[in-house]
Amino acid sequence: SRIVVLISGSGSNLQAIIDASNQDDYQGKVVGVLSNKADAYGLTRAQNAGIDTVTLSHKDFDSREQYDLALIEKIDAFKPDVIVLAGFMRILTAEFVQHFQGKLLNIHPSLLPKYQGLNTHQRALDAGDKEHGVSVHFVTEELDGGPVILQAKVPVFDGDSSDDLAERVHEQEHRIYPLVVKWFCDKRLTMASANIAGKQVEQ
Ligand code: GRF
Repeated sequence: SRIVVLISGSGSNLQAIIDASNQDDYQGKVVGVLSNKADAYGLTRAQNAGIDTVTLSHKDFDSREQYDLALIEKIDAFKPDVIVLAGFMRILTAEFVQHFQGKLLNIHPSLLPKYQGLNTHQRALDAGDKEHGVSVHFVTEELDGGPVILQAKVPVFDGDSSDDLAERVHEQEHRIYPLVVKWFCDKRLTMASANIAGKQVEQ
């Protein structure tokens, strides 16, 4: 399977997927990495692995709709089987999500449905949660609201800072994201139906 990864930053999840995909039994290959930020370190990781990269800055577009249309074109050029959002810090339009419906994956650093959106680690601390974690899910139009595929939990210890928690969660991200992408490439995962605009739609 052809994997395209979208990033905005460090790309440690991208790295974990590249490393996993180099193993013999991994039926997927990262064929392209796209970033909305030219200085994302993940672009260097991709280049070091000999993977094609594209930077498409949202600042060069007048609207979210126009940006997402351009992004769709760049992604489609790689003929991907699966699109992996790995720290891609953009809210996606309905048109984008629908275009890739059923083959768009995201990782979110909370135990969804808890803490959709930003600052998840601090919010878990503020709530006094004893456990926290990370979720990989299919992307639908509802932000961080698509069907969850796999979660990993971590303990929250007294005196943890948001950074401590982020680091503990990151370790788990690097375990579960390559695994879910592998399952998808092995055709063991499908999103059977999606709730589009409030209607139940068969795929
Ligand atoms: C991760 O915490 C992920 O859960 C969130 O963005 C971060 C990306 O980290 N969506 P990295 O760029 O893969 O290191």
